Amino acid sequence: MAEIGNNISIAKDFLEKQQLVAIPTETVYGLAANALDSIAVARIFEAKERPTFDPLIVHVSGLTDALNYVTAIQPSLMKLAEKYWPGPLTLLLPKKSNIPDLVTSGLDRVGIRVPDHALTLELLRSLRFPLAAPSANPFGYISPTRAEHVQKQLGHKIPYILDGGDCSVGLESTIVGEEDGVIIIYRLGGLSVDQIEAVVGKVSVQLNQSSNPKAPGQLKSHYAPKKPVYLGDLKELQAAHFGKKIGAIAFGEQTFFGPTILMKNLSPSKNYQEAAAHLFSFLRDLDESDVDIITCELLPEQGLGLAINDRLRRAAAI
Ligand code: TXA
Ligand code: MG
Repeated sequence: MAEIGNNISIAKDFLEKQQLVAIPTETVYGLAANALDSIAVARIFEAKERPTFDPLIVHVSGLTDALNYVTAIQPSLMKLAEKYWPGPLTLLLPKKSNIPDLVTSGLDRVGIRVPDHALTLELLRSLRFPLAAPSANPFGYISPTRAEHVQKQLGHKIPYILDGGDCSVGLESTIVGEEDGVIIIYRLGGLSVDQIEAVVGKVSVQLNQSSNPKAPGQLKSHYAPKKPVYLGDLKELQAAHFGKKIGAIAFGEQTFFGPTILMKNLSPSKNYQEAAAHLFSFLRDLDESDVDIITCELLPEQGLGLAINDRLRRAAAI
């Protein structure tokens, strides 16, 4: 099993030896390796059992550091970086040749972000290279928001997990780029569409849902528990599945309980940030409990509710 601790120099030593280290970020835990070293990066794909080599996000310590790995930042994207880095924003930017093709799957753009987590920022500042890191879960499963989630699923494959506590945002970063002057959101995430539009005006949301997407996080079925997940009205779902032990994920005040129902509430006070921070750990808890099925109600389609519903729909897709 992996050693769990908060020692930056241990993490640094492993990373310098081409090893993998799980790192905390404000969104989800990442499975990190030296982004400039193809051998180290290849180990990420091996550990995650990703079926194909899909592009990885490169984590840097700040905007100035990002300039070492990209040839330009378009003015609108620069505004977003200045406003929201460090934070749950990944920008697709034209890459320099020091970023190996394995990191971008041969694409011309590299996904870059500055994570908003003190331990990981300190680690990044201490290293001479940036960190390529996908979410630290086996391919297709729920992203980890705690060190112990990583330990359970990937602990036997990596030497060290840098423990930075629970992830404060709990949803992956929002992925943004620019094509022909249009700002495009490729993945909904911890930074809402409204927050982005407040800085750059109207954007186009283009979530790829095909079966052979460029971005694996956009696969129709992803972030998925092993148990069946059903979306809809919780009471109706309970009636439809009468006789089964039911896990239920609610949002807002609930007056509805039952002996065969294990109820989890994302946020009784309807706080979207709180809901996002709870989502993945609740899905995991129910997946590991003795319920037969998991039922969830969708949130209002506004703010972070859009990204949360996106993850719920992918968790429910077969
Ligand atoms: O919040 C996050 O973004 C977390 C933390 C660890 O930073 N990382 C994360 O990585 O969610 P991952 O690999 O699970 O999802 C990254 C998504 C994938 O869908 C990938 O295809 C897309 O970003 N992506 C990365 N680089 C890209 C590129 N150059 N062009 C297009 N899509 C890219
Ligand atoms: Mg992922």
